[in-house]
Amino acid sequence: MKTTGGSDAAKRDAGESAADLVTDGTVVGLGTGSTAAHAIRALGRAVDSGLDIRGVPTSFASRELAREAGIPLVDLDEVDGVDIAIDGADQVAGGDLIKGGGAAHAREKIVDAAADRFVVVADPSKEVETLDHLVPVEVLPAARTTVASAVESAGGDPVLRDAEHKDGPVVTDNGNLVLDCDFGAIEAAAALARTLSETPGVVEHGLFVGLADEVHVGTGEGVTVHE
Ligand code: 5RP
Repeated sequence: MKTTGGSDAAKRDAGESAADLVTDGTVVGLGTGSTAAHAIRALGRAVDSGLDIRGVPTSFASRELAREAGIPLVDLDEVDGVDIAIDGADQVAGGDLIKGGGAAHAREKIVDAAADRFVVVADPSKEVETLDHLVPVEVLPAARTTVASAVESAGGDPVLRDAEHKDGPVVTDNGNLVLDCDFGAIEAAAALARTLSETPGVVEHGLFVGLADEVHVGTGEGVTVHE
């Protein structure tokens, strides 16, 4: 998986700290990205040692990694609920997040929101006072231009996300496109989240407002937990 932002040691500390919270017999949401990947690998090692869990992946990438790690997998519609979800973030301001750097935020939001306990794993580079990262907006391909206009009307500057190593746009696991939208400093995240959610053609956006129950920030020398 692609590594972004802070040090890998910090990401490992955060991921392993969150994996330590997982108990026997639980259903675990498996997030996407390089920090969540450390949690998935740690859970795989715990499964090797006898931990009995079922994982609900949030993306094709997390499914592949969890499969390699030996974690038994289920789909969300096969379980009664998710006990705990562990997922990364592109930016964290208290309990509010911006996610979607891996274009997986639609499934991530479904699984993370369904969890009794949503644990965010991050390195210190992700922590801010006010969210100001690009907000990824997954759109139906046919709605690309109408959603872009709506984003502009809401004060944002949308750019279609391109695939890094090949021609053409990024296509999500759901077959859609992603507009990365610059809103500058986001003072009213809940209102912006509502506006985006109400726009026809928006499948899901990367503002996760008030969803996080706790944030584990790794430093490479330990972990700070914010609840
Ligand atoms: C994927 C995400 C990731 O969790 C987010 O991009 C953080 O990734 P990383 O841990 O690699 O910095 O939201 O859609």
